[in-house]
Amino acid sequence: MLTRLRLHRVRNIAEAELLPGPGFNLIHGDNGAGKTTVLEAIHYLHVGRSFRSHQNQAVIQNGAEQLAVFGQFQLGERQTAVGLSRERGGEWTVKIDGEKRESLSELASICPQLVLTPDSFQLLTAGPKLRRQFLDWGVFHVEHRFLPIWQRWSRSLKQRNAALKTARRYSDVALWDGEYVALATQLAEQRAEYLGHLLPALRALAADFLPDQDLRFGFYAGWDRQQDLGALLASHFETDRRQGFTALGPHKADLRIKLGGHAAQDVLSRGQQKRLVTVLKLAQAKVLKEQTGKPCLFLVDDLPSELDDASRAALLVCLRDYRMQVFLSSITREAIAAFIDPTELTVFHVEHGRVMPE
Ligand SMILES: Nc1ncnc2c1ncn2[C@@H]1O[C@H](COP(=O)(O)OP(=O)(O)OP(=O)(O)O)[C@@H](O)[C@H]1O
Ligand SMILES: [Mg+2]
Repeated sequence: MLTRLRLHRVRNIAEAELLPGPGFNLIHGDNGAGKTTVLEAIHYLHVGRSFRSHQNQAVIQNGAEQLAVFGQFQLGERQTAVGLSRERGGEWTVKIDGEKRESLSELASICPQLVLTPDSFQLLTAGPKLRRQFLDWGVFHVEHRFLPIWQRWSRSLKQRNAALKTARRYSDVALWDGEYVALATQLAEQRAEYLGHLLPALRALAADFLPDQDLRFGFYAGWDRQQDLGALLASHFETDRRQGFTALGPHKADLRIKLGGHAAQDVLSRGQQKRLVTVLKLAQAKVLKEQTGKPCLFLVDDLPSELDDASRAALLVCLRDYRMQVFLSSITREAIAAFIDPTELTVFHVEHGRVMPE
C-alpha cells in the first residue's frame, strides 16, 4: 500500500504531502480544486504518465520546469520508495529505492494500479486498443513470461513490416514468419488463458451490476485461431505487401463483449457502460489478488458522477471485500462517507491546490 505521497509542481498543486490510510482514502473539494491531480500523481508512480492526458507538459505546473512525484510503499514486510520527475522537454528520471532506473516500465510491477475515471467508458467505445491494453495489464501481472515474449514479437513484427516494404514475393518475408507465428501464438494463448481466469469473476460481478443482461465475453486473437496463422500470412501476402504492414497478429487482438448478438457498446446506455467497465476493473482486481496475492491500488476519479447509488455501494463493498487500498475523489464528502465506516476512511480536503488531512 501507498503510505506516503509527495507532489511537487503538478498542475495547481505546488507542494503537497499526504499520508494515506490503508483502506479508503477520500479526496474531496470543489471543481478545479486539485482532486484529480492527486490521483494523476499516484498514477505517475505506476506508469510514469497521466491517465488524463498524453501531454506531460500539460501536467507540469505553469511556470515550472519539471514535476516530481514521490511515493513510499509498504509491500508486505518491505518498504519501497519510488521517485519520478518529468521535464518539459520530455526527459524523465525514475529512482527506485534511490537507484536510477533505465526504463519507465520498471514502475509497472512495483504496485499495480487500476483506475476508473469519467472517461473509462471509452474502454468499450474507443476501439480495440484500450481493450488489448486491459487484457495485457492483467497478463503482465499474472504471467511473468508475457513481457519478454511481447518484446520479441514486437521486434519480429517490425522486421516483417520492414521486409514487406521491399518484398516482391512471399519468399522475401517468409524468413520472418516462423518466429512471428510462434511468438504470436504464445501471446494469444496467454491472453486467452487470462480471460479464462477472468470469466468467473466477470460473470459473477455482471450478475450484480448488470442483472438480466446476457453478456458474452470472447477473445479475438487478431486472426482466426481455427486456422493456421502461417498459412493465413502466406495467403494474405499480397494485401500486406500493398498496405506495407502485417494485418494479422496480436496487434489486432480484442476482448469482444456481446449482448444479444450486438457489441455491448452499441446497446448499453452510458450508465450501463460505466457499470460494465466497473465490472471489468473489479474482475481484474479480484483475479490479481487470487493469482498473485499482490497488493493493488484502486483509483476512482469523481465517483458520484460515475455510478448511481446502488452501483456505488456495490463497488465500495467489493473493494472492501478485496481489501484494496482505494483512492476516491468526489466533490462532496457525503456522497461517499455515507457508504463507508468512518474507521476505514481517511479524508483529505483539497482547496485551490492545497491538500489538507481532515
Ligand atoms: N499545468 C497546470 N498548471 C497550473 N494549473 C493547472 C495546470 N493544469 C491544470 N491546472 C489547474 O489545476 C486545477 C486542478 O485541476 P483538477 O482537474 O485536479 O481539479 P478537480 O478538483 O479534479 O476538479 P473537478 O471537480 O472539476 O474534477 C484546475 O483549476 C486546472 O485549471
Ligand atoms: Mg476532477
